Amino acid sequence: MERPLTQHITFPPLGLRQYEAIGGYQAARKAIKHMQPAEVTALVKDSGMKGRGGAGFSTGMKWSFVPMNVPGPKYLICNADEMEPGTFKDRWLLEGNPHQLIEGMIVAAYAIQATESFVFLRWAYKTAAQEIRKAIQEAYDAGYLGRNILGTGYSLEMHLHTGVGRYMCGEETALLNSLEGKRATPRSKPPFPQVSGLFGKPTIVNNVETLSYIPHIVNKGADWFQKLSLTADGGTKIYGVSGRVKNPGAWELPMGITLRELLEEHAGGMQDGYSFKGVLPGGASTDFLVEEHMDVKLDFAGVAAAGSRLGTGTMIVLDDKTCPVGFVHNLEHFFAQESCGFCTPCREGLPWTEKLLWAIEQGNGRMKDIEILASQTKLLGPGNTFCALAPGAMEPLQSALKYFREDFERHIIEEGCPYNHHHHLHST
Ligand code: NAI
Repeated sequence: MERPLTQHITFPPLGLRQYEAIGGYQAARKAIKHMQPAEVTALVKDSGMKGRGGAGFSTGMKWSFVPMNVPGPKYLICNADEMEPGTFKDRWLLEGNPHQLIEGMIVAAYAIQATESFVFLRWAYKTAAQEIRKAIQEAYDAGYLGRNILGTGYSLEMHLHTGVGRYMCGEETALLNSLEGKRATPRSKPPFPQVSGLFGKPTIVNNVETLSYIPHIVNKGADWFQKLSLTADGGTKIYGVSGRVKNPGAWELPMGITLRELLEEHAGGMQDGYSFKGVLPGGASTDFLVEEHMDVKLDFAGVAAAGSRLGTGTMIVLDDKTCPVGFVHNLEHFFAQESCGFCTPCREGLPWTEKLLWAIEQGNGRMKDIEILASQTKLLGPGNTFCALAPGAMEPLQSALKYFREDFERHIIEEGCPYNHHHHLHST
């Protein structure tokens, strides 16, 4: 099985010369020297690559929206503000193969003719910051960055920007505001960043995993990428599993493997004494999948058809001894804390949601609170807020109310949590 993204991950990562020795920077060389920018974009579009940040939007299509004939600068940004709960796939790539990412950024920047690029890195990723900073310097020293790259006349600057530790900054328009030195609130879309992004200029924001893949697509082609996958979505994908499984971790696997294969073969099944109750497939801001979904194919369309989203593909497993109400309360505590406060439904609705869940968890809930929570999931849902934070926060709640409603009711009837308190995940 091919694992193009992760096969050369080492700790510490390959330095520039070692990376070159395994074929590194050949894709940058090929793209900049031998391909037109539009050819690179067309190749990525043909590959079918869907963005690995969580939304699964076509990467090539995104690039193709950049207006190429306007004067002034264009920007490429790597969104490395990975902060989705349970998600640690980009960290693996950042710490384990920074040159692969930088090469992908050079190719992407060339495709849109950006002259300046940024890695917007999660504040807490200190080791990644060290490795990326070192690798950027090596790339400058070797002439892959800076003025007149490889004598082609193409120039690109690259900067590392370490974030401030807020979930909100990963939302692409809030990220742009943050990078401009403003408060990290979201902007309305449209206009999309491809047209009006950083400092109002055309800007592409792509995830770490997406950009790290680009060199391989340039080297091996769109067909190769398609064939790696078991379904219509191309490529391999980094999947992860956390929770009470025997072997939590992250693995690069063909796109479209089943949930069963991921949980049983790779994560090793549940720990002794625990059984599977549900799983959030894409970090916290996705709907639960349950036992009936074990044969769902884990690609963007497959998980959507099951009523959830693939999201980041890094799954959080809920077991039968952890209280679902406490589990969801813990998540809503996080989302309420991370709301930027800019729009009212999110700012007011998330703390209220958290409070209701806490009341139920503590045995102080009323049956009608369940209905209020259900209506919250609509009021804070898609279309009613400025960005995806609150709608994402409602996904685990709405699906918990659907699949684990009895658990909510038992808390109210029994005036307390029926689960063993040692297993609670709440943090207030
Ligand atoms: P989105 O679907 O609005 O946009 C995704 C990307 O496609 C953006 O770059 C956007 O500019 C582009 N796009 C979408 N529609 C477009 C159109 N009509 N024209 C031009 N470009 C278009 O999703 P959003 O709000 O950017 O991201 C939400 C996702 O982020 C969720 O799926 C969630 O799973 C994920 N997420 C990931 C986190 C992480 O740490 N990796 C953290 C939080 C959320």
